[in-house]
Amino acid sequence: MYNHPTRPSLPVVLAVLMLWGPAFASLSQSKPQAAAWPSPFQVHPRANSAGENWEYSIPSEVQHGSSSARFNISTPDTALSQHDLRMLDAPQVANITEAVFDWWYFDAVSETNPKESIVVILFSSSANAFPWLDKDLDSVLVAYLWASFGNGTVFAHYVPATLATVTGGDDTVHSSSGDWSSTGFSWTSRSRDLSQYEVRLESEKMHVKGRVALSSPPAPHLPCGINSPVTTLEIFPHIGWAGIIPDATSTVEITVQGSPLTFQGGGIMTKFNWSDRPFIESVQSWYWGHGRVGPYSIVWFDGIDTTNTPRTSSYVARDNVVLLGSCSTASLTVRPVGASNTTGGRYPPQAGDIPIGFALEFDLGNEGILKVHASAEATLVNDGRYYFRWSGPLTGELLPASDQKENLTGVAVFEQFALVE
Ligand SMILES: *[C@@H]1O[C@H](CO)[C@@H](O)[C@H](O)[C@H]1NC(C)=O
Ligand SMILES: *[C@@H]1O[C@H](CO)[C@@H](O)[C@H](O)[C@H]1NC(C)=O
Ligand SMILES: *[C@@H]1O[C@H](CO)[C@@H](O)[C@H](O)[C@H]1NC(C)=O
Ligand SMILES: *[C@@H]1O[C@H](CO)[C@@H](O)[C@H](O)[C@H]1NC(C)=O
Ligand SMILES: *[C@@H]1O[C@H](CO)[C@@H](O)[C@H](O)[C@H]1NC(C)=O
Ligand SMILES: *[C@@H]1O[C@H](CO)[C@@H](O)[C@H](O)[C@H]1NC(C)=O
Repeated sequence: MYNHPTRPSLPVVLAVLMLWGPAFASLSQSKPQAAAWPSPFQVHPRANSAGENWEYSIPSEVQHGSSSARFNISTPDTALSQHDLRMLDAPQVANITEAVFDWWYFDAVSETNPKESIVVILFSSSANAFPWLDKDLDSVLVAYLWASFGNGTVFAHYVPATLATVTGGDDTVHSSSGDWSSTGFSWTSRSRDLSQYEVRLESEKMHVKGRVALSSPPAPHLPCGINSPVTTLEIFPHIGWAGIIPDATSTVEITVQGSPLTFQGGGIMTKFNWSDRPFIESVQSWYWGHGRVGPYSIVWFDGIDTTNTPRTSSYVARDNVVLLGSCSTASLTVRPVGASNTTGGRYPPQAGDIPIGFALEFDLGNEGILKVHASAEATLVNDGRYYFRWSGPLTGELLPASDQKENLTGVAVFEQFALVE
C-alpha cells in the first residue's frame, strides 16, 4: 500500500533549526513584483556575435496555470553541444506551480573525516510538490543549509527568498550564476564548461559566512548517458536529473554561528533535479549517493517508481575516464544492509526501515565488477521515517580479484527515500 507522507518535516534530528517566522515577516515587506517567467525552452535571446545569454527571474509566489519541464535534449551526434551543456544549470521547469519542483544542489564531504560535510540546496518548489518543505512558508524559493561537524553536531537552517535570478549564456566570463535574493546564498560557475562552481553564503540571519568551491574535469552525468538522437534527462518517470559535476574536488571554508568548518573534500558533486508533478506521485523508494573510492568516482541511483518498476542510473569514472554511465538495471544494484533484528536490510524498503549501510555492485563489463560498501556513519538529515541522508566511509574491491589487490577506500554522501507504509 502506498501512503503519502502527511507532513514530514526534514529537520527532526537537527541540533539547530532556524525558524523562518520572524525572518520571513520582515522579508516579505520588501517582496518585489512577480517577475515574468520566461519559458526555459525560449531563451531570452540577448544574442550577439558570441552567442546567447539568458536571465531567468523566478518569483516567490506560487504560480497559477500550466507548467512544463524539459526532459530531453536533441543529440544527433551523440554529443552535447556547448550550448546544451551550458543550458544544464538553467531552470528546467516553467512556472513553479503547486505541482512542480526544480532545484540546485551542492554538497561536499571531507576526505579525512566523513562526519564533516555541507549540503546547500536552492529550491524553487511548493511544499505541495515536495512535502518535506515547510508548508507555512509563503515563498517557493528557499535556501537550505546543512553543515555537519566532526563531533557529530549538525546545523540546519533555511531561509525563504524573495526573488531568484539565474543567468547563463554563451559569451559570459562566468558561465552562469544563481542568486536567491536576499538570503545571502548564491552560486557562480566560474568556467564556460560548467566544471567549476563556487557557492557563497553570507547570511546574517543564519550567522553563516563563507564559500564552497567545487571543481572537476568537465564530464556531466546524465541519467542514461548521452545517446543519439535524443538524450533523456528523466531518471524516474516525471523526474529530471543532471549530475553537472558528478565528482568534484572541493574546498569548504565557512563559519557557522562562530564555529569554523574548513576542509578539503573528496567525493563531491553538484546537481539538481526537477519534476512536473509532485514527488510522491512518482516515487516509492530510492537510494542515491556519490563518492570516491580509491581511484573511482561513483554515483549511484536505484529506486522503485509508483508503477513498481525499478529505475537505475549508474556512473563510474576512473582517472577522469568514464567507465560506466547507464540507466540499465543490469549495470548497478544497491541494497540496504541492516543491523540484525531490524528491518534496515529489507528490500524493497518500507517507511521506517533504517539501514546501517548499503552494498553497491557496479558492472563495469570487461573491467570487472566494482563492489562497494557504504557505511552510514553520520546521519545528516532525517524525518525519522521517510527520508534519511548520511555521510560515511566507502570500502571497495574490484572483482575478479587480481594479485595486486587495490585497497579501495573513500567517502560518500548518500540518501534514502522509503515512502511505502
Ligand atoms: C506559464 O504560465 C503562463 C501564465 O499562466 C502561461 O501563459 C504559460 O503558457 C505557462 N508556461 C508554460 C510553459 O506552461
Ligand atoms: C522531448 O520532450 C518534449 C517535451 O518534453 C516532448 O514533447 C517530446 O516528445 C520528447 N521527445 C522525445 C524523443 O522523447
Ligand atoms: C561540536 O562542534 C561545534 C562546532 O565547533 C560546536 O558548535 C558544538 O557545540 C560542538 N558540540 C558538542 C556537543 O560538543
Ligand atoms: C533529488 O530530488 C529528490 C526529490 O525529488 C531530493 O530529495 C533529493 O535530495 C534530490 N537529490 C539531489 C542530489 O538533489
Ligand atoms: C529482537 O527484537 C525483539 C522485539 O524487540 C526482541 O523480543 C528479541 O529479543 C530481539 N532479539 C534479539 C536477538 O535481540
Ligand atoms: C587495506 O586496508 C585494510 C583495512 O583498512 C588494511 O588492514 C590493510 O593493511 C590494507 N592493505 C593494504 C595492502 O594496504
